[in-house]
Amino acid sequence: MKTVTSEEMNQQFSYAEQVKHLACAGGKTPKALVITYGCQQNENDSERIRGMLAQMGYDFTEEKEEADLILYNTCAVREGAEQRVLGNVGALVHEKRRRPNLLIGICGCMMQQEHMAKTIKQKYRHVSFVFGTHTLHKFPQILWRALSEEQTVISVEQSDGVICEEVPVRREEGPKAWVSIMYGCNNFCTYCIVPYVRGRERSRQPEKVLVEIRELVKTGVTEITLLGQNVNAYGKDLPEDIDFADLLYQINQIEGLKRIRFMTSHPKDMSQKLIDTMAVCDKVMPQLHLPFQAGSDRILEKMNRRYTQEQYLDLVRRVREKMPDIALTTDIIVGFPNETKEDFEETIKVLKAVRFDSVFSFIYSKRQGTPAAVMEDAISDSEKHENFDRLLEVQNQISREINDACFGKTFELLVEGESKTDENMLTGRTPGGKIVNFPKEEGIKTGDYVNVTVTKTNTWSLLGEICRD
Ligand code: SAH
Ligand code: SF4
Ligand code: F3S
Repeated sequence: MKTVTSEEMNQQFSYAEQVKHLACAGGKTPKALVITYGCQQNENDSERIRGMLAQMGYDFTEEKEEADLILYNTCAVREGAEQRVLGNVGALVHEKRRRPNLLIGICGCMMQQEHMAKTIKQKYRHVSFVFGTHTLHKFPQILWRALSEEQTVISVEQSDGVICEEVPVRREEGPKAWVSIMYGCNNFCTYCIVPYVRGRERSRQPEKVLVEIRELVKTGVTEITLLGQNVNAYGKDLPEDIDFADLLYQINQIEGLKRIRFMTSHPKDMSQKLIDTMAVCDKVMPQLHLPFQAGSDRILEKMNRRYTQEQYLDLVRRVREKMPDIALTTDIIVGFPNETKEDFEETIKVLKAVRFDSVFSFIYSKRQGTPAAVMEDAISDSEKHENFDRLLEVQNQISREINDACFGKTFELLVEGESKTDENMLTGRTPGGKIVNFPKEEGIKTGDYVNVTVTKTNTWSLLGEICRD
């Protein structure tokens, strides 16, 4: 595994100085807009991109018309996400004509695919620069070239991936933060593009993770979410004898930190040691995202998931044995090649058996270069959509019942800020990760922990009142 050296980073820092000189000429402060698609890992990368932009003298805006630089950090996991990016970038051609100095960039997972970078170069000539996931730390150099050269700058390298500890991070202020503990994926589920665009599994050194969290706590962060495509594989590639459970245990000791969450866990790697550790670590929240993808053993095998329905259900049973109140969430793919009506019924069976708090469901999307892309379908698209709708119906009912059961219960919430839909309300999350809105009160502010009793329940959210007892 390759770690980016300090010399390499110093070189980037001097590019950053040169960009600052060019972009801030005449005392102006240029503005950047970074738009992020995809998972939390991408959000975390955007925080690093913003860190580098701030270092290069940029300020930030949410308005396209105001921006001197617009950067799309993209996701390749499904075709829909890719189409949206291409549509939005295409529409910027007019803005670029109006303001020829506008810089438009695209980066992230979608660009890590060779055919995509080519498409941009050929068909989207108003794009100034493109970079993939493995060259993120070279952004200052890429931007410097984009400011100095006429043609589209492309920086996409084929690599197993690097680790770079020195990129500056600029996070939104607030009590919550994401911390990546590992990058990449080795699992090669047959439908999934992630291993091709994110490289091999590589873990950050535990000291680096611990130092980052301690620093965050000093700035007022009390809740962290540990990130990785499969956090359960943490440490496998490190020289020291450490696994995810050990890391969790160490993070749990950090003074001032109150809540720990993590995602994602692959069921095949979820050890009994991890379950036991979660149960004894008081700061680890009773929440687990455990994607099962499909209920049918035949389909699970074709997906290369390496567990059976029975093993998955047994895992859930063991998790609940230790943590009866744990909130469970999952991911499901509907319409994987060859999935029949009978296979799909097995997915419904698992939904009903487990009763997840919430479910993220997706219709299978063919990804170029993955093994599933050449597999045949057994049913039509409209049948897939029927199955998808049925799944939503079954799950909505379950989510509703689980939320209804929260009525009258009191939860400790971390206040995250004003509700998005009502300026008279505040919003926060329960230990299990459920959103509760409650009326604003004098003296209660973002970052506080308050006890709230649920007074009204909906399928997706809960309403409550501060509990004074
Ligand atoms: N590493 C995580 C998440 C990967 S992507 C995990 O293993 O769970 C997030 C979700 O997108 C996956 O869990 C899967 O449900 C979905 N997904 C991935 N590839 C897909 C595809 N080709 N079509 C539809 N959904 C897909
Ligand atoms: Fe994709 Fe599977 Fe890796 Fe998750 S574990 S990122 S679904 S290959
Ligand atoms: Fe998408 Fe890349 Fe995440 S493909 S889901 S942004 S790792």
